Amino acid sequence: MTPVQTPNIFAPVSTPAFAIRDLSFIVLAITAAIFLIVASFAVYTLIRFGRRPANPEIEPAQVYGSTQIELAWTVVPLLIVVVLFLVTARYVYGIERRAQPPDALEITVVGNQWWWDIRYPKLGIVTANEIHVPVSDAAHPTPTFITVKSVDVAHSFWVPQLVGKMDAIPNKINRVWIEPHRVGTYVGQCAEYCGLQHALMLLVVVVHPRDEFLTWVAAQQKAPVEQAATKAGRQLFSSLACINCHSVRGTPSNGVFGPDLTHLMSRSTLGAGAVRNTPENLRAWVKDPGAVKAGALMPAMKLDDAELDRLMAYLVTLR
Ligand code: CUA
Repeated sequence: MTPVQTPNIFAPVSTPAFAIRDLSFIVLAITAAIFLIVASFAVYTLIRFGRRPANPEIEPAQVYGSTQIELAWTVVPLLIVVVLFLVTARYVYGIERRAQPPDALEITVVGNQWWWDIRYPKLGIVTANEIHVPVSDAAHPTPTFITVKSVDVAHSFWVPQLVGKMDAIPNKINRVWIEPHRVGTYVGQCAEYCGLQHALMLLVVVVHPRDEFLTWVAAQQKAPVEQAATKAGRQLFSSLACINCHSVRGTPSNGVFGPDLTHLMSRSTLGAGAVRNTPENLRAWVKDPGAVKAGALMPAMKLDDAELDRLMAYLVTLR
């Protein structure tokens, strides 16, 4: 896997993110020019007049009701704001008007307290917190169109190197698209305060070469194979309340309140970025999720060590 990139709006790799960087540079250039002019006047005034001994007898020149000055400081800022508005509107419209090509990859991202449900409706894949997409090159333009929703409170989908922020609002469907031109792993984050664990709603987008992406799709589409050695763990899992919230394809567990576990061990973190996904961390997580991620909605199931062992033996086979 390629090294994980630090989130950065100035290092775009996807079409809408390039537009956002260009717009940022225009806005920064205009505001930097204003800052330099104002700051130089202020510094000049401080140096030029700052050292003159105070003389209460002499009053500085008083200027009242100068139409020219008032017009200047009203009209010039107004024009600047209009220019900033028009340029921004043009870029926003340029990104949003792109129609979805019929063969585009479709993903639905659903914000939950505090994790992301990721669905590929046309491919029959359900996962969590990690989005996998193919790289888009000139020979095979493969944009990914993302439907952004929420089941509870307002969240915001944001992967700075790929696309700008898009709110995830209950009862509202929003859309964004990405078109990454470089293979890599890009980090995103919930960008709307959504409660105690807002900071632990990590998003990872893995951009694969085309054939590697197809391999990932084929692996995710497979249901886990029932193994004799892990049957006891699977039965324990099915007998507990786990199945009210979690799904494992091909088994009775079909809950939707928590992340789909069909390919749990293929993901890199637990608790949406709380800890690395290792068998030891998974055991600690199942034992007491609140100890790993305070406020996590998954309850501690109060399992003894023997039960945990059986459950772990099963869960680590969900690759
Ligand atoms: Cu979800 Cu902040």
